[in-house]
Amino acid sequence: MCRPNYFDVTYSINPWMEPSRPSSADVALDQWKHLHDSFAALGHDVQLIEPVAGLPDMVFAANGATVVDGKVLVARFRHEQRADESAAYLDWFRERGWPEVKMAQYVNEGEGDFLLAGDVILAGTGFRSDSRSHGEAQEFFGRPVVSLMLVDPRFYHLDTALSVLGDGHVMYYPGAFSTASQKLLAERFPDAIRADVADAEVFGLNAVSDGRNVILPRRATGLAARLREQGYEPIGTELGELLKAGGSVKCCMLELRG
Ligand code: ARG
Repeated sequence: MCRPNYFDVTYSINPWMEPSRPSSADVALDQWKHLHDSFAALGHDVQLIEPVAGLPDMVFAANGATVVDGKVLVARFRHEQRADESAAYLDWFRERGWPEVKMAQYVNEGEGDFLLAGDVILAGTGFRSDSRSHGEAQEFFGRPVVSLMLVDPRFYHLDTALSVLGDGHVMYYPGAFSTASQKLLAERFPDAIRADVADAEVFGLNAVSDGRNVILPRRATGLAARLREQGYEPIGTELGELLKAGGSVKCCMLELRG
């Protein structure tokens, strides 16, 4: 995770970002701390990357890389405003001795668009990650990659439209995907929780699950009820300030696997 010390909305690279609307790094920091502490309280080991002045979106650590089986594919950002985040992540992993660290050749925004679901990597494209990055990830990680096409600009990263709850179990908002990708998801995940637009619009799909506890935006009350029915423990958290930049719970976390 990355503290939002320099959080601000100074440019607009997704439909949620309105630089003319006031936003506060202090409020963002309070909300972020609450998220950090709730996650740590569940027993997870949280490591931090130092925020960099002039990179207001760096709080969205999910975008920095993808880490599977100890291999690190460092992101290459679509927009120049975030491009310098790559170097910070590259250094972070190298300094800590991760053995296989690769700077991506094609644009991909890390776990914003790559989500591990059981043995496969679900991979979003359409707005940010270049579809050629999907082949690159398959080669690098040696895991099958399933490409999914995003079609609604409000849900520009896969992790704004789909969340992995546990091995082979996901929740998603069908309307964010092309017809072909909706069909593919329905076949692959017949037991999925399908979110409605109201929960999707408050970023309810931008959640983090450890297989039992699911941390999600507080306003996604419909999804919280569905999760509880299915035996999960939903934990609602307020991240309204970060939503002004188009991000929430999952965007703030990069999972370090193996
Ligand atoms: N303002 C950031 C951007 O547009 C938000 C990133 C949200 N991150 C995510 N994993 N969905 O790039």
